[in-house]
Amino acid sequence: MSVLEVRDVWKSFGDNTVLKGVDLTLDEHDVVVLIGASGSGKSTLLRTINLIERIDDGQLLLSGDDISDPAVDMDKVRARIGVVFQQFNLFPHMRVIDNVTLAARKVHGENAATARERGAALLEQFGLGDKLSDYPDRLSGGQQQRVAIVRAILTNPELLLLDEITSALDPMLVGEVLDLVRGLKEQGSTILMATHEMAFARSVADRVVFMHGGRILEAGPPEQIFDAPQQPETREFLARVTHH
Ligand SMILES: Nc1ncnc2c1ncn2[C@@H]1O[C@H](COP(=O)(O)OP(=O)(O)OP(=O)(O)O)[C@@H](O)[C@H]1O
Ligand SMILES: [Mg+2]
Repeated sequence: MSVLEVRDVWKSFGDNTVLKGVDLTLDEHDVVVLIGASGSGKSTLLRTINLIERIDDGQLLLSGDDISDPAVDMDKVRARIGVVFQQFNLFPHMRVIDNVTLAARKVHGENAATARERGAALLEQFGLGDKLSDYPDRLSGGQQQRVAIVRAILTNPELLLLDEITSALDPMLVGEVLDLVRGLKEQGSTILMATHEMAFARSVADRVVFMHGGRILEAGPPEQIFDAPQQPETREFLARVTHH
């Protein structure tokens, strides 16, 4: 069974149709990278999967469960998906370890001591072992974003959604965040991410999906999309983003 199935998904805001029949499947351990121009619908697609936006038509299946059913318990669905956005969204008044363990304790009802132990181990693993007691504003942007990712994975989500997680970062700090994502891939996470980092997309993606005007225009392994794109729109986009 696939981890995620997006079936003919449509979404409009007023008369602006932003998703026009998107189909996408992720199997376990797949890392799929969404690329495409600003406004092509990448974030909207990620937000519909996390049920922040309701779809107008189509279907979303998470490990076979129809999560687009209006009767679904949205909190239960969200508890199964890890999400990291461009802005770090850590709670400023909570120490790093408490930020990281909050969902495990409050949403999943995990014992505080166990959550703390697991959180500390993960932070250690990702080079944040000395930051447990710090408040977020004491950390660099790259460190904050790594904390946000650790928080998202602590509950062992079935699926990880990452939306431009490096675009608010100083270029110097992008690498450490992308290295963490590479580590998650090696550990077998299932990841759907939008990024403008083409070199990273090429090196980490199992599949690259090019979105254009709310449609998936082209998808395939990175070598195919980057070295031999079939659609003129894909070629145009890649020429634009790789020549500046
Ligand atoms: N909540 C909303 N209300 C109205 N319009 C929206 C809303 N969210 C997104 N849109 C519109 O949907 C379209 C797609 O936006 P989206 O954010 O999905 O693009 P994107 O591919 O993520 O772009 P970027 O690369 O800039 O992040 C845009 O025209 C945007 O203005
Ligand atoms: Mg976006």
